[in-house]
Amino acid sequence: MQPISQQAMTPNLIKKIDDAGIIAVLIIDEVKHALPLAKALLAGGVDTIELTLRTPAAVAAAKIIKKEVPEMTLGFGTVLTVDQVKAVVDIGADFAVSPGCNPKIIAEAQKQGLSFAPGIMTPTDIEIAVEQGCRVLKFFPAETSGGIKHLENMAAPYTYLDLKFIPLGGCNIANAPSYLQSKLITAIGGSWVAKRALIQAEDWHSITKNAKEIRQLIEAIRS
Ligand code: 3PG
Repeated sequence: MQPISQQAMTPNLIKKIDDAGIIAVLIIDEVKHALPLAKALLAGGVDTIELTLRTPAAVAAAKIIKKEVPEMTLGFGTVLTVDQVKAVVDIGADFAVSPGCNPKIIAEAQKQGLSFAPGIMTPTDIEIAVEQGCRVLKFFPAETSGGIKHLENMAAPYTYLDLKFIPLGGCNIANAPSYLQSKLITAIGGSWVAKRALIQAEDWHSITKNAKEIRQLIEAIRS
């Protein structure tokens, strides 16, 4: 294989995500929820988010988090278009991910200097991403495609590339250990930490509790 000239994610960001171990996937319906939500996550030790571009409130909510909660590592999810790549760069995104593996989006992220992890579910997806310099990949949808067993089999031929994966889709506190015990996993992601319904109900206490629970699990597994 040719040497990779460009890296799709900075070493600094790779370390931040690995240290975090958990990326909270957020669907924010109301801008007013952005600040208390970010604070509730931080109170539970979760400092890395994937704010999904699925609601009209997402961009305004992200701007508030960027300004008011600078200690939060601000990632964006559901980044599907070149214009969305540009938009999240303008907001000051630390990274972005997408459900699928679109070479156009990977290329635009690199052009913009945006750390990016495309979604992969097959060896073909992995090879498209690797060819474009990606070494951290979103494994999506993790649970329904076979969980960690599927990932370990699929990633075996690429071991020498030292790829790291972020499983998303169906992950929760019960199945988190199966992922976190694998050397392939840099961080687990999911919406269970701050479920949309909890955000809508402004149940910041439960969100902090969920955040603490997964952080404690990560520390126990990694110690
Ligand atoms: C994502 O948005 O990245 C995933 O859909 C999160 O999946 P989950 O809601 O099953 O955690």
